Amino acid sequence: MTTPSPVTVRVPAKVNVRLAVGAARPDGFHDLANVFLAVSLFDEVTATPADALTVTCTGPDADQVPLDRTNLAARAAEVLAARHGIEPAVHLHIAKNIPVAGGMAGGSADGAAALLACDTLWGLDTPREELLALCAELGSDVPFSLAGGAALGTGRGELLTPVDAGTFHWVFAVADGGLSTPAVFREFDRLTEGTPIPEPEASPALLAALASGDPHALAATLANDLQPAALSLRPSLRATLDAGLDAGALAALVSGSGPTTAFLVADEEAAAKVAAALEASATCRTTRTATGPTPGATVLAP
Ligand code: C5P
Repeated sequence: MTTPSPVTVRVPAKVNVRLAVGAARPDGFHDLANVFLAVSLFDEVTATPADALTVTCTGPDADQVPLDRTNLAARAAEVLAARHGIEPAVHLHIAKNIPVAGGMAGGSADGAAALLACDTLWGLDTPREELLALCAELGSDVPFSLAGGAALGTGRGELLTPVDAGTFHWVFAVADGGLSTPAVFREFDRLTEGTPIPEPEASPALLAALASGDPHALAATLANDLQPAALSLRPSLRATLDAGLDAGALAALVSGSGPTTAFLVADEEAAAKVAAALEASATCRTTRTATGPTPGATVLAP
């Protein structure tokens, strides 16, 4: 029997153009109306046959990535193998470019990529719906990492409906260190205690702006209900948001649970200008520019 060739999957980061958060549910999660946009910052996960499940990682922030079974890529291999009654005998290599613990779904991206890479390596041909259900077991943002494009996520964010989106230009400011998603949701609970929380919804104006491809219209409707919580835990992010706006960004917001901040800009030229100003401002560690939407997890040609 010949050994199957390694399989590499490329997977995008995401930004939330609307993250509406409802009250905490009995299971501890929050109902969301989460409008995801996949952006052109990518991780690549390569699955190679091995004696046992192992994970390695390279990239600028590789030292911050756990290589044990808490890594969502490792968990993805385990849940897929368990589903099919086989051993997760695979080596997973993550080439990491998405900021770590940054609110851009980097861990979720690696989970979705590993699932698709292992499914392909092991010749399982798991139906798409089943892959999406396995993604939802791994985490609330993982189904979107598989799907990509632009989508509204309801429930805890895992129930996806694709939405139309024109192309938008973004700058991302990467902060020092990460923020824990559960900690940001806990801070949201603390800040909203005693106040009525409306049902989360994505406004028709936001969805129309997204579909139109007009960055000025989208800038007027972007919002993230987790932003006050992220700013409360990391007040220095306010200076980053202000630096991007001063440099001409059309809108600035915390990406997901942060601490990466996202700047919507008019075009590529504005992106370069805002990125240079953010770098010079010393209010962030580094910047990335990207466009979205972009496709979800994709197997690369060998
Ligand atoms: O689903 P995931 O494992 O990514 O979620 C991480 C944590 O974020 C959860 O344990 C929970 O504390 C919080 N969360 C939440 N509501 C959501 C999604 C995540 O409270 N809709």
